[in-house]
Amino acid sequence: MRKQIVAGNWKMNKNVQESTELASEIVEKVKGLDLGNTRVIVTPTFVNISEVVKVTKGSAVEVAAQNMHQAKSGAFTGEISGEMLTSLGLKTVILGHSERREYFGETDAILAQKVDAALANGLEIVFCFGEVLAERKADKHFDVVESQIKNALFHLDAAAWKNIVLAYEPVWAIGTGETASPEQAQEMHAFIRKIVADKYNAEVANNVSILYGGSVNPGNAKEIFSKEDVDGGLIGGAALNSDNFLALIKSF
Ligand code: 13P
Repeated sequence: MRKQIVAGNWKMNKNVQESTELASEIVEKVKGLDLGNTRVIVTPTFVNISEVVKVTKGSAVEVAAQNMHQAKSGAFTGEISGEMLTSLGLKTVILGHSERREYFGETDAILAQKVDAALANGLEIVFCFGEVLAERKADKHFDVVESQIKNALFHLDAAAWKNIVLAYEPVWAIGTGETASPEQAQEMHAFIRKIVADKYNAEVANNVSILYGGSVNPGNAKEIFSKEDVDGGLIGGAALNSDNFLALIKSF
């Protein structure tokens, strides 16, 4: 059975004290929950990962990174390698976030290299993609999503997909307060599962968790998460407060 996942993407928020405080609060509050089939992931910025790993150790709260470089090591000032992440005990990395694509020039080709590098390090990938508003208005959202997935992931063999989590994040819904309706999310997630099934097989498609991201909050999560093909959320703003984040986890 595929996992349900609630992942907080903290983006460039919270200093080290604030990060450890938030992580500690989440650890405490999650203790009282029966998580069942649900994974809880927090994603601090790089410099705060080690401290957050310390305060989450032994808890149900997993720590992931927001990005990594595709090279093994070398002269890439300011960058972080996959091996550096695994050396901290991390098992998961987010790749392809729309903010990385838009502000840092990450193309599908670069992302395909990052995907390979992450898998070579034994990392699980939360792979993000999604259309901008103009593409949705032009009815191109299915094509855009298909090509983003195809270009960065379809060179993988079926076995590699056990380390892939997909995250549909329509860019027009990120940080805007505007959410895709549960029906729009379900429609896209079902489409994604179908293209994965067509490329690989039904087993791969049924086992891959597909998260929704974009202005998920405690008020709308339950309805979105209740959709058949929505296996959880990648959460920005609402993940920066432990009560809100807990409410999202409880939405399952
Ligand atoms: P918001 O939840 O703030 O819209 O951000 C979503 C997101 O980008 C998660 O990666």
